[in-house]
Amino acid sequence: MRAVLVGPPGAGKGTQAQILASELSIPKVSTGDIFRANVSGGTELGKQAKAYMDRGDLVPDEVTNAMVRDRLAQEDAQGGFLLDGFPRNVAQAETLNKILDDLGERLDAVLELKVDEEEIVKRLSGRRSCRACNNVQHVVYDPPATEDVCDVCGGELFQREDDREEVVRHRLDVYHEQTEPLVSFYANEGILVTIEATGSVDEVTARAKAALRNGS
Ligand code: AP5
Ligand code: ZN
Repeated sequence: MRAVLVGPPGAGKGTQAQILASELSIPKVSTGDIFRANVSGGTELGKQAKAYMDRGDLVPDEVTNAMVRDRLAQEDAQGGFLLDGFPRNVAQAETLNKILDDLGERLDAVLELKVDEEEIVKRLSGRRSCRACNNVQHVVYDPPATEDVCDVCGGELFQREDDREEVVRHRLDVYHEQTEPLVSFYANEGILVTIEATGSVDEVTARAKAALRNGS
């Protein structure tokens, strides 16, 4: 399966992508995770991306598109992939279609996760991310057994710079202005499926699997 997850910041895209990709035995390709790994590794790509990310703005399309083109050309993505956080605007969606055309492939589905803003603010203000393994937890919804320690690897949990309230509000504006138009873009292509992403993680996973299976 070649699929994309779309939804506002904090909708649970990363959480669901991790579970679904593992169950479907396809790689999860998260542009946010790739950028963050480059920022912490101090690479040239990380230096280009950091200021945009800290402000909650999109990294320029030339940088992001080139990175995704390289990633999707890798061996492990040939049998399918689950994209999390890309595309983020219509120009990126058009580039993705072009990348896939060049590889002789096409998208099977775009899954939209819907959550209201009050819940988004709760999810993001309580999110804690692992410095070592990318695992994501939540102080209330998925509390670590030991405070600030990752349940998966024992690494340090920290709060993302862009999860501060004023940056979250800006990311939501960016979502509405630039990313939400993708919903009608993919509806027109006939591959959009939408689910409510409230309720427990397991409930959302069950809805996501049913939607991907039935195309509705
Ligand atoms: P990115 O990392 O993609 O951030 P985002 O889209 O804002 O998404 P988040 O990671 O904030 O949220 P999520 O939906 O994955 O939620 P999660 O599963 O963690 O991008 C960051 C930045 O990188 C961008 O601002 C931009 O600068 C740059 N960038 C990335 N891609 C780009 C692109 N294509 N173009 C240009 N720039 C790009 O869940 C949130 C919290 O809720 C967690 O604590 C989790 O434990 C909890 N939770 C999850 N599900 C549930 C549930 N069902 N119930 C209760 N809690 C839940
Ligand atoms: Zn960890």
